[in-house]
Amino acid sequence: MQISTSLFQKYNIPVPRYTSYPPATAFHGRFTNADYREQILKSNDAEPQNISVYIHIPFCTQRCHFCGCNTALSQSEDRIKRYVNAVIKEIRTTAQYIDKKRLVTQVSWGGGTPNSIRMEYIGEIMSALRSEFSFADFAEIAMECSPAYLDFSDVDYLHETGFNRVSMGIQDFHHEVLNAINRRAPKHEVGEMLAYLKSKGFRGLNLDLVYGLPLQTVESFRENIQQIIALQPDRLATFSYAHIPWFNKAQSLMEKHPFPSPEEKLQMLVDSINTMTANGYEVIGMDHFAKKDDELAIAKVNKQLHRNFQGYNTLKTTGQVYAFGASGISQLNGAFAQNIKAYDKYIQAIESDGFAVDRGYILNNKEIIVRDSINQIMCNGLLDFEQTAAKHGCSVDDFLKITKFNVSHIDQLLNDKLVEFKNNTLTVTPEGMLIVRNVAVAFDPAFTLKERQYSNTL
Ligand SMILES: C[S@@+](CC[C@H](N)C(=O)[O-])C[C@H]1O[C@@H](n2cnc3c(N)ncnc32)[C@H](O)[C@@H]1O
Ligand code: SF4
Repeated sequence: MQISTSLFQKYNIPVPRYTSYPPATAFHGRFTNADYREQILKSNDAEPQNISVYIHIPFCTQRCHFCGCNTALSQSEDRIKRYVNAVIKEIRTTAQYIDKKRLVTQVSWGGGTPNSIRMEYIGEIMSALRSEFSFADFAEIAMECSPAYLDFSDVDYLHETGFNRVSMGIQDFHHEVLNAINRRAPKHEVGEMLAYLKSKGFRGLNLDLVYGLPLQTVESFRENIQQIIALQPDRLATFSYAHIPWFNKAQSLMEKHPFPSPEEKLQMLVDSINTMTANGYEVIGMDHFAKKDDELAIAKVNKQLHRNFQGYNTLKTTGQVYAFGASGISQLNGAFAQNIKAYDKYIQAIESDGFAVDRGYILNNKEIIVRDSINQIMCNGLLDFEQTAAKHGCSVDDFLKITKFNVSHIDQLLNDKLVEFKNNTLTVTPEGMLIVRNVAVAFDPAFTLKERQYSNTL
């Protein structure tokens, strides 16, 4: 695949990111612990039956100034221990309401930096999960690690505890960029660490890069991608950095350095796509890449990709997500529930009530249909209207009324050969997948309404 910046320039209109539908901004505080409990019970009768677990560890030894994650500087051992105990209590409380026949197929640890806490705490949380739930033998157990603190002995521990996937945040290979974002370099050579992880049987090894950081140039980012090609990870994620210092104050500390322009950022993305695909990687979504023999690339070919707040995964392993820890978002068939963000308030809530829901959202049947349609387009670029309507027990006419889809909304995409539409089936072409959010909006009734309101005000 060789693309140019013009595709992105033409479709550069503000559209939702569709990390979830409805977006997290729709979650509200009227959703309580009791609502969550009721939704967990309902989730036992919903699809998928699989259980996905998310564990959030907010602590980081040092705070990178660009970071947009929910983090806290590492605390005293006592506090960390109290947090770990709270997570274990939340797991035990939640498990009381989950059908024991259901299997855990996915566990994702994110943060913060999960590997900044003592490995034995990680072992305690994993033991609690194993004592409360049954695991499928193919379960994917993954951790996002900071390479600044990851030791070979940690890898041994993670392997013994059942982990089989690791992702490492690189962000940039250049020391001056790492200094500008207040980040430590990897403790060990990334290539040696990847080789060690592989020798222990870890798969789906992922590295993260971020484009748009201070001191980066188009040329320096090309060097990052060349370095990735040399390292040959199974997967690469290239995240776009958004500078929003009025929302995230630490980001203003980087303003003494020059940032790449929007045009340069776009060139970085386009270069990544062109170079990665020329070197045997498949594009997953817009800015993730996987080797052709990686399960994500295979799932892409078989239209079996799925995405949740933890990133891309496959329909085989994905489940309804039950999140544990501060700020964790549970994603059930019928509802979203997000925990309190501040880790100390989270601990207090769990210690007194066993749950720590801050806000959430219950989806009605129409929203479930819209969410499914948007997910199918976003992940697999394919939406069969008849099949989707049948799956949700409605007619194609109802499906059209609910999504407010009208073929006139995709005129431009059809003319540009970014989508094909026949026999009530919409297929997104490989180039179209790079601007897939612009396709997904055609099935978002809220967006078309807003768009109309927006046009009216002009
Ligand atoms: C929880 S961190 C990964 C684990 C570990 N804490 C680390 O930094 O290596 C999640 C990833 O989100 C991405 N990320 C964080 N803040 C971001 C931002 N403001 N813009 C774009 N990507 C960001 C980074 O690529 C980072 O590796
Ligand atoms: S990028 Fe990772 S290590 Fe840095 S502050 Fe964010 S979560 Fe912590």
